[in-house]
Amino acid sequence: MRVAVIGGGLMGSGIAEVCARSGVDVTVVEADDSRAEKARASIETSLDRAVRRGKLEDADRGAALERLAVTARLDDVEGADAAIEAIIEDELAKRELFRRLDALLPDARWLASNTSSVPIMKLAADTSRPEHALGLHFFNPVPVLKLVEVVRSIMSADDVLDDARAFAEQTLGKKCIDSQDRAGFVVNALLVPYLLAAIRMYESGFASREDIDTGMVLGCAHPMGPLALSDLVGLDTLLAVSQSLYEEFRDPSSVAPPLLNRMVEAGLLGRKTGRGFYDYSAAGA
Ligand code: CAA
Ligand code: NAD
Repeated sequence: MRVAVIGGGLMGSGIAEVCARSGVDVTVVEADDSRAEKARASIETSLDRAVRRGKLEDADRGAALERLAVTARLDDVEGADAAIEAIIEDELAKRELFRRLDALLPDARWLASNTSSVPIMKLAADTSRPEHALGLHFFNPVPVLKLVEVVRSIMSADDVLDDARAFAEQTLGKKCIDSQDRAGFVVNALLVPYLLAAIRMYESGFASREDIDTGMVLGCAHPMGPLALSDLVGLDTLLAVSQSLYEEFRDPSSVAPPLLNRMVEAGLLGRKTGRGFYDYSAAGA
């Protein structure tokens, strides 16, 4: 099977790595050559780390890299059996991409989006085969977290959903849950208002960022606190998800706090730019 993964950032590179390690041929498409190179480097680094940690044989690392193609030309997806879209969380950009994938992959088994929050029907509506579109929502970091949300739009066909679920569970070894096609799906509808509440608490001076994070790690046994987690997700992505949630539900819990807006405007996007609520520049993150 050959899968096209469009977008090779945090999520796309993780999805591509897991596919390649599971015996799937993968073509990753990035926006330009330098980003394509960065995507390949980040997959290689992650595979090296798995070898160092004793989780991957050196020979399997080599085999995974042989299954991987990285390109800046969307046309290179032609002939893929299925596609997973993982570009920036921007509804218009995703709709345009779905239109192009629909034309390039008329026989694909399914076109999936890894969107955190955009309703799948908005993307499917721009294709000629909306019954073949669905959400496959992976979690960050993809090589570590087991969950995939399978999102059924009102047009998704049963056999398409079954096929994509079997791919996620049997081929990639993930655990799937079902979600209706509502902004944020199951997990982000719960998680994002919590992250925004933590930012509001920090912004108001109610508690320090360290105490907020330590509180949730030691008090609730979360693997990381909400501000560190926001940095891991990416503050641009978090902002976009909050906007989708608010557009759909008009609930005040999804309104972005001004501090989040200002940080995104300043380019303080979290780990991926080296600074968010915390500074990662020393770690080279
Ligand atoms: N890629 C691959 N493997 C990674 C990794 C990465 N980016 N980061 C960590 N790991 C692996 C390590 O290799 C290590 O594996 P072993 O223990 O088997 O050797 C394991 O994960 C633990 O790593 P560390 O010891 O370095 O660090 P940690 O124990 O602090 O764990 C973490 C790091 C996995 C990120 C953990 O803190 C965690 O799970 N945090 C919560 C993440 C979370 O909630 N993600 C969901 C975000 S929301 C989302 O994804 C949806 C959305 O739409 C926004
Ligand atoms: P990211 O910013 O790390 O990566 C996005 C990548 O898409 C960038 O490398 C960019 O160059 C590329 N891109 C943009 N337009 C493109 C195009 N037209 N063609 C090819 N590549 C293009 O973002 P991310 O965190 O990887 O998020 C990607 C998607 O996954 C978003 O929809 C996001 O909401 C979703 N998601 C994110 C997380 C998370 O924790 N960050 C978790 C689950 C789902």
